Amino acid sequence: MATIYIDSAHSDEKRRHRLYGGDLFAFSPTPSATKLAELARELSEAAFAPHDPQTAQEQMPAERYVEILAELKPTFIHHPRAKELIAVLLSEVGADIERTYFDVPRLRTMAHSQYMNAGLALQFHPHRDTWFSAPHQQLNWWLPVYAIEAENSMAFHPGYFDAAIKNSSSGYDYDEWNRTGRQQAAQQITKDTRVQPEPQEELELKPDVRVVTPVGGVLIFSAAQLHSTVPNTTDRTRFSIDFRTVNIDDLQDGVAAPNVDSECTGTTLGDYLRASDLEPLPAELVDRYREGARATLAAPA
Ligand SMILES: [Fe+2]
Repeated sequence: MATIYIDSAHSDEKRRHRLYGGDLFAFSPTPSATKLAELARELSEAAFAPHDPQTAQEQMPAERYVEILAELKPTFIHHPRAKELIAVLLSEVGADIERTYFDVPRLRTMAHSQYMNAGLALQFHPHRDTWFSAPHQQLNWWLPVYAIEAENSMAFHPGYFDAAIKNSSSGYDYDEWNRTGRQQAAQQITKDTRVQPEPQEELELKPDVRVVTPVGGVLIFSAAQLHSTVPNTTDRTRFSIDFRTVNIDDLQDGVAAPNVDSECTGTTLGDYLRASDLEPLPAELVDRYREGARATLAAPA
């Protein structure tokens, strides 16, 4: 049974332990999360001007739409203001920015129904981030950029949090994935043939859990949580921001969400930056995780 905590006053440590146990945390709008959503809206609106980014695909050819997004997303990822706002946001909800490391924030979009070519009843890509070489200490932070509804949010399947799923993560290695991607880019291969981990059994995805916060609100969940993209049946494209964090003490102590079924190798830890000054994690710690000393300790009760 998962609990959704709203505006909880837990310390960051207690919150992490509960997240590692499968609970979800949501926060009402904070000043920095509001500014982060504002920054994403400003950049998106400039990129799609004079169109509303949420409906812009109706106004232009698909190729042009894809082209604009391909430029907009990296602009947000590398925007220095976005990184600054994340550090302040972490402090606002009680995380110690000297012990918390994050990876760059992503701007994601989920086009609405007219752009969907798959059946609307499909739920997309149920997965755990931990199948993709994420450490079991990873927490995901998710913020809407424009107002969302249940029909264009994301879905959780908490019944699977501690239930193993047959999956293809054993064939995945993040470091190898990066190397192959660079090779493909160098050889100008456009079709990505790399295999992504996915479930290898029929899953019971309904009922699911969706958390809808106002713009500026924040949702936090464990990377071990099974989640999927909701088919967007609204008339607005969803814009959202997400980033991941790890706490260095939990990495050092092996305190993490339980690993029930991830068999991938490699680690994403090399991508993380200390929130206070953007220093990377100590190399020996990253190596320890890369060499497969994955934490399997269950979260404290
Ligand atoms: Fe994910």
